[in-house]
Amino acid sequence: MAYAAITGWGMYVPERILTNADLEKMVDTSDEWIRTRTGIRERHIAGPADLSSTMGATAARQAIERAGIAPDDIDLIVCGTSSPDSPMPSTACLIQSHLDATRAAPFDVQAVCSGFVYSLVIGTQFILSGAAKTVVVVGTDMLTRYVDYTDRNTCILFGDGAGAVVLQASAQPSGVLAFQLGALPGTSEMLHVPGVNSHPLAADALPPDAQYMKMEGREVFKHAVRAMAESSAEVLAKTGLSVEDIALLIPHQANLRMIEAVAKRLDMPMERAIVNIDRYGNTSAATIPIAICEAFDAGRLHDGDNVLLTACGGGLTWGSAVVKWGR
Ligand code: ACO
Repeated sequence: MAYAAITGWGMYVPERILTNADLEKMVDTSDEWIRTRTGIRERHIAGPADLSSTMGATAARQAIERAGIAPDDIDLIVCGTSSPDSPMPSTACLIQSHLDATRAAPFDVQAVCSGFVYSLVIGTQFILSGAAKTVVVVGTDMLTRYVDYTDRNTCILFGDGAGAVVLQASAQPSGVLAFQLGALPGTSEMLHVPGVNSHPLAADALPPDAQYMKMEGREVFKHAVRAMAESSAEVLAKTGLSVEDIALLIPHQANLRMIEAVAKRLDMPMERAIVNIDRYGNTSAATIPIAICEAFDAGRLHDGDNVLLTACGGGLTWGSAVVKWGR
């Protein structure tokens, strides 16, 4: 079997919605500033019952159902997350329990917002090597738990959610055709949460605010646009496809202006890009699988379509893949 087809997909977002109007009451910001600088109108925030594992399991259940497989068919669960329920065990192990996927080998992948693309590529390699036939790939994050809701630079950007796909061995050209992954050394503090494990694990041992995310927004923006555009161009070159051959661009949803800048650099019309950041904000590793679900529901994904996925996130990491839709 030479390919790993995407045969199922699912998503979950928490019920509670935080609008720009809500944020206006919390920090010195405005709906107009947030919409024009980021494209975000509202985002979903995890409730008391939501965890990265439960959100990921709900998305995975949908994906499994759509693929028409049983939990016992799953050989591997690869979970992209940077907000695990706890330092141990892995979120993938907890998802395995929720799914009762008794045969699956579960593990997490930490590449922040690039986590889904990394996980998709890893899951694909297991199938291409013959080591697995059926893989569940999850992207799930609740970065709002790291957000300081007095910091207007970051608190407007993030939402919570999860998405998942099922990969199955296939003889037909399908799934990831080519990929490119990377990270830039020396940029780790551009987007990071300083606590917890770099300090002793004691409630009162953290330096002030070390539990909160810190971000150099403008620098992240510049690096992210460059990384996604260059990585996309590289992955296109690997497949021998041109931008005209790409039916749909499904980019990480961090900022509408970022998506527009990447599309412009690639010479890709925005009509061919999936944008849903207005309703979800940045759900980190979940943005791309959620966008896949919505693209399918909107009738924008057809068998045989070439789809370009591209993401960038804390690390700074990035990853792009050309995927052929269909089995
Ligand atoms: N409301 C009102 N004003 C604000 C807000 C806010 N929420 N946030 C910042 N400002 C102010 C700043 O204080 C600044 O004011 P000043 O000129 O008086 O100093 C002004 O707006 C401009 O600030 P900039 O930081 O230059 O604004 P910019 O246009 O760069 O937008 C943003 C900031 C939205 C953070 C942008 O840089 C960005 O999206 N960066 C990428 C960050 C990101 O996506 N991180 C997520 C994880 S990484 C990833 O997913 C790729």
